[in-house]
Amino acid sequence: MKLICANFKMNLTRNDIKNYLNVINDKIKDNVIFFPTSLYLNDFKEEGYKIGSQDISFKDFGSVTGDTSVLQLKDMGINYTIIGHSERREYFNDSKYVNQKINLALKNNIKVVLCIGENLNEFESNQTIIILKKELDDAINNNLDLINRDNLIIAYEPIWAIGTGKIPTIDILNKTILEIKEYLKSYNLNLKVLYGGSVNLDNIEELETINLIDGYLIGGASLNPEKFLSLINKVN
Ligand code: 13P
Repeated sequence: MKLICANFKMNLTRNDIKNYLNVINDKIKDNVIFFPTSLYLNDFKEEGYKIGSQDISFKDFGSVTGDTSVLQLKDMGINYTIIGHSERREYFNDSKYVNQKINLALKNNIKVVLCIGENLNEFESNQTIIILKKELDDAINNNLDLINRDNLIIAYEPIWAIGTGKIPTIDILNKTILEIKEYLKSYNLNLKVLYGGSVNLDNIEELETINLIDGYLIGGASLNPEKFLSLINKVN
């Protein structure tokens, strides 16, 4: 079964969450992980769903106002964390902390969904694989001993595809995912690679033709529970 990660980003209110949980009631399998805002993690946890944090602090504890520690999230029962999402890289300079955050998460037995992806300029100037390799190197460096197929998952999210309704052509996506997997082999790693960026009901069947995709990281299309259920029903 493919892995499906629902990243709510900074969306939905408490009432929306209650309604969401009512709608998805019993219709979600074990391959789905919810990444709501930290405030609502417990609502999903109490209903027995797998949960992940959208980020963790680069420190375990201390004077980092506004951040949440991996130890606190672990206490809460999270199974996963996203690290290096392009929005965090853009607004919070997170590329600088990706390596440290992965180290903290893996040492605490939290599985990591590592986001990598190129921007439109880089895509148009054929830099994609160069960018992806650099982001992988930055993440893996010094952490190789901690990493295995079970605890580090790569999410390839072209920045230009996030929230735009655009996705790469199937040929390009197939080639890029193959290149990512080949590059990981040079580290002796065989990791799952998810695709993220405007995954929706209109393109899921096309995406499902790519055998190399091991799952999806879904933003906007995970916010409406009815639509999300229809979407994941189309995933093998
Ligand atoms: P969208 O599915 O809204 O394009 O977002 C993708 C994403 O960034 C998931 O992490």
